[in-house]
Amino acid sequence: MEANRAMYQDLESILYTKEQLAEAVKKLGETITRDYQGKKPLMVCILKGASVFFCDLIREIDLPLEIDFMVVSSYGASTKSSGEVKMVKDLDRSILGRDVIVVEDIVDSGMTLSFLKRTLLNRGAASLRIATLLDKPARRRVELEVDYSCFDIPDAFVVGYGLDYNETYRNLPDIGVLAPRIYGGEE
Ligand code: IMP
Ligand code: MG
Repeated sequence: MEANRAMYQDLESILYTKEQLAEAVKKLGETITRDYQGKKPLMVCILKGASVFFCDLIREIDLPLEIDFMVVSSYGASTKSSGEVKMVKDLDRSILGRDVIVVEDIVDSGMTLSFLKRTLLNRGAASLRIATLLDKPARRRVELEVDYSCFDIPDAFVVGYGLDYNETYRNLPDIGVLAPRIYGGEE
């Protein structure tokens, strides 16, 4: 906390501490371990937001697995995603016949994941599940089944533990609600 004092001043409140996050990630790792017994899942990290969650999660899964990375972006540097999704970096290898688990930081409108789900299923994955750290169900604009989610959160803009505002705050160990004054919103 000490080293990040300046960044903490930009938060309105702390939503989850690093201890709460670690506990939730451990639990999810155990669930995935149980659900994928006898399988070798391919874990796909959606960069950059899911990076911190992903690195912690894969180490809580007691199974042989493989990892790959994708970069997608919804345009702009605002606190609302635009709904337009662009693939910036694709997977390195084929996913034909693989049991894929897509790991995201947060599901908001659902546009990003519904685009990814369609794209990856079209490539012949044997199965595809979505694991997200956070879910904002109130903001969903498309129907999307989320298979694993650690926390449902209210409609607020959150940062930390990989999540950013304008590329900053990703290295906060906790997750907090960003003060609206930082992005010019109303208090
Ligand atoms: P969706 O396509 O609207 O579901 O948007 C998902 C993406 O928007 C996430 O992967 C995040 O990058 C970003 N996002 C949505 N809500 C937040 C938030 O509260 N904090 C930081 N990023 C967010
Ligand atoms: Mg993201």
